[in-house]
Amino acid sequence: MKILVVGSGGREHAITWRLTRDVEGHRVFCAPGNAGTALIATNVNIGVSEIEKIVEWSKNEKIDLVVVGPEAPLVAGLVDALEAAGIKAFGPVAAGARMEGSKTFAKEIMQSAGVPTAKAETFTDPQAAKEALASYGLPVVIKADGLAAGKGVVVAETLQDAEKAIDDMLVGNCFGSAGAEVLIEEFLHGEECSILAVVDGENAVLLPSSQDHKRVFDGDTGPNTGGMGAYSPAPVITDDKLPLIRDKIILPVIKELKRRGIIYRGILYAGLMVNDENSNPRGPVAISGSPVNVVEFNARFGDPETEAILPRLGGSFANLLLHASEGTLKEEDVVVEDMAAATIIAASEGYPGSYAKGKEISGLSDESANSVVFHCGTAEAEGKIVTSGGRVLSVTGCGKTLREAVDEAYRRISGISFEGMFYRKDIAHRAFERTEA
Ligand code: AMP
Ligand code: GLY
Repeated sequence: MKILVVGSGGREHAITWRLTRDVEGHRVFCAPGNAGTALIATNVNIGVSEIEKIVEWSKNEKIDLVVVGPEAPLVAGLVDALEAAGIKAFGPVAAGARMEGSKTFAKEIMQSAGVPTAKAETFTDPQAAKEALASYGLPVVIKADGLAAGKGVVVAETLQDAEKAIDDMLVGNCFGSAGAEVLIEEFLHGEECSILAVVDGENAVLLPSSQDHKRVFDGDTGPNTGGMGAYSPAPVITDDKLPLIRDKIILPVIKELKRRGIIYRGILYAGLMVNDENSNPRGPVAISGSPVNVVEFNARFGDPETEAILPRLGGSFANLLLHASEGTLKEEDVVVEDMAAATIIAASEGYPGSYAKGKEISGLSDESANSVVFHCGTAEAEGKIVTSGGRVLSVTGCGKTLREAVDEAYRRISGISFEGMFYRKDIAHRAFERTEA
């Protein structure tokens, strides 16, 4: 197959890498890609938001499948435009991508479909929002409706902080139109993790569970980031929870979307809160009464979860994505290898705030059968690979057990360096606290 991957981060490098490992031998292109994808595929100099150019190029090149990585082009209608031009694409149409693009919409779908989630209400009037706070207790969660680059969620410990967040979004317009509506949400206790489902409009197959590390520093401290590492499987998702996640969360959402005329194809990423005897930490039961509740949906592969999930997939990855995009997905399309994987993000000093770019990276060329380095924010300059982002590399280790996978990832990252590089030293700590206790 001739396949175009749209995006330029670690997720897209991992998707590209996994496609190139299919035995069929595909021709893979990346738009725009990065210095890592350039080593294994052909980069095409088109940005992710240049919808018309992507469609035209794909048509001219007779691309068999376009795989869209990031949310912004999905929300902007890239898949709609590709399908209108007769090009197969993996990812939801814009109406489906609203599951990520609008938290109010996602909540409405969940409520209509009876999906367990935090109790929530949407407000545009700050006074009405503040009056509603009393019925939520503390902590309480205040969310901007739209895409706010991961910054639109405030977990308020006090009433004053909650009122300030409401004012910042509705009066101060701190997120612009993304914060023109706010949700007030019940705080869910428990342990966060995620399940990504491959969806073909009707059916869904779950990919292996994962957990990422959103805070920048060890012990889950410091500001939120796009993710500082991830591992798969996440032991908090015990096998007995999978039917609940598929039958009470993923499938009802797809059905409710279809009822509204939206055929959802691509990844439906469920960010979950698990609160039971297996979770770390645990706390008071949610209003829904369910041990598993949805925190959020994303309309795409997670980053860096993808870097820890894809190395575990056997079979033909291209066929899995193609079948989802054609509506012919089968359970057998997902083949999970009996192994674990962990990925560690090497970040630039200052991230998630401002950071320097252009630092030369060394130690990339070491080959190893059980590890792989995905590029997140890199560029080529004068024949050298240099940093070009806050998250620079995603270093994945694989092993028979999670411990082996994590050790391999740390072994590999210890040989890599650039000025200002830092990374978390406690990836998968929740899993180890549980399984090695
Ligand atoms: P979201 O963008 O909705 O995923 O929210 C970002 C982060 O805020 C989540 O990953 C959680 O850590 C936290 N969060 C969001 N909603 C809730 C909630 N209802 N209860 C507890 N934590 C939440
Ligand atoms: N790592 C979280 C996300 O991709 O949204």
